Amino acid sequence: QDPYMVSSKSPTAVAINAAAKTGQWIKSRLGNIKELDIKQSAQDLVTDVDKGAELMIRKLILTHFPDHAFLGEEGVEAASTEPMDALEDAEYLWIVDPVDGTTNFVQGFPYFCISIALAHHGELIIGVIYDPMRDEMFVAEKGRGAYMHGTPTAVSSEDTLADSVIAIGFNPERDFALPLNLKGMQALAPRTRSLRAMGSAAMHLAYVAAGRLSGYYEVGLNSWDIAAGVLLIQESGGKVTDTQGQAFHLGARHIVATNGHMHQELIQVIEEAGASGY
Ligand code: IPD
Ligand code: CA
Ligand code: CA
Ligand code: CA
Repeated sequence: QDPYMVSSKSPTAVAINAAAKTGQWIKSRLGNIKELDIKQSAQDLVTDVDKGAELMIRKLILTHFPDHAFLGEEGVEAASTEPMDALEDAEYLWIVDPVDGTTNFVQGFPYFCISIALAHHGELIIGVIYDPMRDEMFVAEKGRGAYMHGTPTAVSSEDTLADSVIAIGFNPERDFALPLNLKGMQALAPRTRSLRAMGSAAMHLAYVAAGRLSGYYEVGLNSWDIAAGVLLIQESGGKVTDTQGQAFHLGARHIVATNGHMHQELIQVIEEAGASGY
């Protein structure tokens, strides 16, 4: 039975609607957080808004597609390290980060988004990233391109790292990921035009897709941070691999995402610095 047939709404329309509705609610709660908890460490926060947004998205999606599997950041037990192993074979799997950029949200720094992806037997087929503060909805469908409010998105054209602006991240995991990201940052800073670290992996990826950033590198991510953004970049003409240059797959946690032109150069700098995470 094809789930595309049992719902009157396409999964893309359902994802866009869920992102738009939930995004407006998240925006309305900026500066009005009722519960603030720490997860693994003081760098790793969760609020009632993260949890509420995930429940809202789950409901808005599964109402239309009750047979689909759903992986959301806040539904995953802290102890389970590799949720993807079990889920990569799911027929249809939604991969959702209800608020990417929680630290920004808590801080009132207006740079966070919702990330919703759909995978079919482990292959990404839909990616939606919504920034409620700027009302920017990025949408990608496998084989059909990527758009922002109806206009196709395309990656930038810089050919060399020296001409590139690269985003990086300060992963909250202090023992393994943070030191590697810092090493990567130190190696990249003198080789690039400039670096940016805005605190949202998904927004960085959407900006690479839209040509606003040349590339992005981070070690220690999870599938919900990157799934939607990966498809956006692929459908905008860019390239995403792991930090060793292997093809992207849903379990990849250390990634390099670029306009494609200086991809290899970026990977080389990361590998030479010992900052690939492998
Ligand atoms: C985090 C953000 C941040 C990145 C971290 C992620 P969260 O996600 O994307 O930019 O550096 O690795 O965990 O917790 O705000 O959804
Ligand atoms: Ca988080
Ligand atoms: Ca995230
Ligand atoms: Ca999150």
